[in-house]
Amino acid sequence: MRVLILGANSAIAREVADILASKGHELYLASRNVEETERLARHLSIKYGVKTHWDGFDAVAYDTHPAFWRRVLERMGDVDWVLLAFGYLGEQDKAYRDFGEFRRIAETNFLGAVSVLTHVAPYMEERGEGLIAAITSVAGDRGRGSNFPYGSAKGGLSIYLSGLRNRLFRRGVKVLDIKPGFVDTPMTAHLELPKRLVSSPRRVAKDIVAAMEKGKDVLYTPWYWRWIMLAIRLVPEFIFKRLNL
Ligand SMILES: NC(=O)c1ccc[n+]([C@@H]2O[C@H](COP(=O)([O-])OP(=O)(O)OC[C@H]3O[C@@H](n4cnc5c(N)ncnc54)[C@H](OP(=O)(O)O)[C@@H]3O)[C@@H](O)[C@H]2O)c1
Repeated sequence: MRVLILGANSAIAREVADILASKGHELYLASRNVEETERLARHLSIKYGVKTHWDGFDAVAYDTHPAFWRRVLERMGDVDWVLLAFGYLGEQDKAYRDFGEFRRIAETNFLGAVSVLTHVAPYMEERGEGLIAAITSVAGDRGRGSNFPYGSAKGGLSIYLSGLRNRLFRRGVKVLDIKPGFVDTPMTAHLELPKRLVSSPRRVAKDIVAAMEKGKDVLYTPWYWRWIMLAIRLVPEFIFKRLNL
């Protein structure tokens, strides 16, 4: 497969890229820090003998996305799978009072994804096959007082992906919504999280690659988050609002 990974320097994406390269897939890695991505791409190419490409990509530089997408097609010829792995957690309390912070969260996690998918999705629809995968979050499943700026952006993306899946199903294009729980990455390094619920990026990456191969619709990773979130979604609102989560 020819696989495009956006936000390729993210801890989770690096592990996904490593697994995909070990299976012989051709990779197009893109991020804001091109030097770091070039190092990763060269490393994987030497380690596994696969073809890799690297490029600059900023999710919120919407104007650059058309040219970026053209470059991907020129260099790789065709794209089979796309994985969106970029994200911005931001400061939740700050975002509650400061629209600038909220906008950065919403733009990076939601609009940035939609902007690039505006090019990817019609291309795959016309091609009649392919896979679009994006990392959202369990935080998008229900609004919580402690993280609803991030949660609403990820939840918005989940709804968008659900609609895209519906639209593209008959055209042979698969759409995978990846919902990790807590993962030990730079994004969460400053947070105090319940240790037993924190997973390694490698564990989550293995689940992601397996779900991409199977063409799943929605992945909770690790698996137990599906049941945790089911329980959380089932709590009636009149109780939920009192829990101060
Ligand atoms: N860690 C968790 O507990 C957790 C849970 C649920 C979902 N997720 C999601 O998992 C995905 C991967 O995150 P991670 O946990 O691996 O954290 P991470 O290592 O901090 O990766 C986040 C990545 O997003 C990139 N990014 C931020 N803003 C961007 C922009 N405007 N354009 C392009 N790239 C941008 C960052 O690039 P730079 O290196 O250039 O800053 C960084 O590589 C994200 O979508 C995140 O929201 C994480």
